[in-house]
Amino acid sequence: MNDQLTIALSKGRIYKDTLPLLEAAGIEPLEDPSKSRKLILPTNQDNVRLLIVRATDAPTYVAHGAADIGVAGKDVLMEAPTDNLFELLDLHIAKCKLMVAGPENEKPHGHRLKVATKYLKSAQAYYAEKGEQVDLIKLYGSMEIAPLIDLADRIVDLVDTGNTLKANGLVPLEHIADISSRLIVNQHAYKTKFAQINHIVEEFKKAVEK
Ligand code: ATP
Ligand code: PRP
Repeated sequence: MNDQLTIALSKGRIYKDTLPLLEAAGIEPLEDPSKSRKLILPTNQDNVRLLIVRATDAPTYVAHGAADIGVAGKDVLMEAPTDNLFELLDLHIAKCKLMVAGPENEKPHGHRLKVATKYLKSAQAYYAEKGEQVDLIKLYGSMEIAPLIDLADRIVDLVDTGNTLKANGLVPLEHIADISSRLIVNQHAYKTKFAQINHIVEEFKKAVEK
């Protein structure tokens, strides 16, 4: 029987905030991804390993079964195809908001609103729901620059403290969604490795509710 369990995590805030949950489930990584260049990390449990992946790639690894379970932000899940995934648990970590933001003193513009974002699907759904026609411009990061140099009028981005917006002379304008990270599980693995995965789900659940 294949009892190897593979967990996809991104380094940074998701790794940091998932660590106590893993510990509650008896899983302790043997190396620290912020210090090691290794991308497949062994843990104190011989049959459990961690894959250190880009945050936006975590659902892909899990959907294809390359990882059995993983952690991904709701912002990422809203953009990704989630066909072979179960979203089992809200982990209440890496909390922030998806928002429309723009310059503090927005100039009137005589054209259709231009909105720059890495969150095309979410932005599309948001403006469709409002019945507002906008031109979306896909960026991969540093969205805050776009309104400053007239690439776009507004942006759709994640906001937590608001410091990044403020530092770039922007203000939050409209709330789109509350974001937190979720435990995702490959649908096939959930059947074939049920006991192992369910143990983790239950321990995570208890740790999250504490
Ligand atoms: P990638 O690794 O693909 O470049 P990223 O740089 O966005 O992605 P992180 O910055 O680690 O990766 O963000 C991971 C997740 O944490 C995001 O998908 C989001 O759900 C959440 N997040 C992002 N920024 C914040 C923030 N400022 N405060 C709280 N949570 C955040
Ligand atoms: C995220 C997000 C915003 C910022 C918001 O960036 O993309 O730019 O946090 O947080 P704040 O409201 O507290 O300033 P992050 O710090 O993860 O940098 P990155 O997107 O370049 O990884």
